Amino acid sequence: MEKKQIYENLLVQLRGLVDGEHHRVSVMANATALLRELMGERFFWTGFYVVDGEQLVLGPFQGSTACYRIGRGRGVCGAAWQQAQTLVVPDVEAFPGHIACSSLSRSEIVVPLLDSTGTVRAVLDIDSRDADAFDSVDAHYLEQVARVIAAAIY
Ligand code: SME
Repeated sequence: MEKKQIYENLLVQLRGLVDGEHHRVSVMANATALLRELMGERFFWTGFYVVDGEQLVLGPFQGSTACYRIGRGRGVCGAAWQQAQTLVVPDVEAFPGHIACSSLSRSEIVVPLLDSTGTVRAVLDIDSRDADAFDSVDAHYLEQVARVIAAAIY
């Protein structure tokens, strides 16, 4: 199936999954499971980091164990939070300050979740074992994914 079709299907399922549920941990947990289920090995690590004061703290995820806390502006996640924008990193080793939770991650995309005031409350972090795995199609759809989740929980 073409990537766009997989994402369209994902969005339909995600909207159904969050309908009527607003618990943050539960919605994030099921969202990571759905992403992993539909994207499979393409998404090596899929999870949330949640804003906690001046840091991001590890939230629900699918994949191997990861670091608990990331400072504002640190790594790809901290930079996406600080800049309040999606970051696509084709080669994590070329990103200054990248935090390597797994040496297997080669590229990643991080998408902020905004509340109704436009404040970043969490980020969705997806890593791939392949270099250059994410493009503008992924950014476009994962921003929609982030909006659906944020609307349910913030
Ligand atoms: N890659 C992230 C750290 C988190 S792990 O990938 C799960 C970063 O540099 O922000």
